[in-house]
Amino acid sequence: MSVNFVNITLKFKQMKKFGIFYGSMTGTTADVANRIAAKLGIDKEDVHNVATTAPSTVGDYENLIFATSTWGSGDVEEDWLDYLDALKAMDLRGHRIALVGVGDETMADTFCSGVGIIYDKLKDSGAYFIGSYPADVYKFNHSDAIVNGEPIGLLLDETNHADLTDGRIDGWLLTIGQYR
Ligand SMILES: Cc1cc2nc3c(=O)[nH]c(=O)nc-3n(C[C@H](O)[C@H](O)[C@H](O)COP(=O)(O)O)c2cc1C
Repeated sequence: MSVNFVNITLKFKQMKKFGIFYGSMTGTTADVANRIAAKLGIDKEDVHNVATTAPSTVGDYENLIFATSTWGSGDVEEDWLDYLDALKAMDLRGHRIALVGVGDETMADTFCSGVGIIYDKLKDSGAYFIGSYPADVYKFNHSDAIVNGEPIGLLLDETNHADLTDGRIDGWLLTIGQYR
């Protein structure tokens, strides 16, 4: 496990600006991002679709939530691809990133694996990853979002378990010290 993945002991920085960045093909992850923003009291202008936002915008925020769905067989949502390459070239030291994966547990060998690609690309960026949250409510065989036995963020399944999403977002926000 990367030294920068510090699990639930590290929380978001208090009183620092939040930015949510998402990639979404059919709107599901966009909806989840907006629901998280509403719970956090984040302005709409701080919720960014990576398809239409310059990567440099990430540098404006110390507290970051990165969300992606999974496509193909375990691929990150495609708008993230170039975005991640651009972020890799940036200095993200001091930033804290919490990850949200949206997938479908019936894709049982690649459940939410796209979020694992974000982690893998940025794990050496200097940013801290926070917000591991249990995923044992879902049935799947494998996910690249599980690193050394721990989910690397909040995993959600809006296709089969939409009813769980709100409660899981609430619980996750509590663990990272942000709920109002
Ligand atoms: C062709 C296709 C491939 C998919 N592959 C995966 C996958 O490998 N793993 C997974 O967890 N979900 C997979 N999904 C499910 C999507 O991630 C899920 O529907 C998600 O809610 C889409 O969110 P979006 O609209 O924000 O892109 C796939 C869906 C489709 C239609």
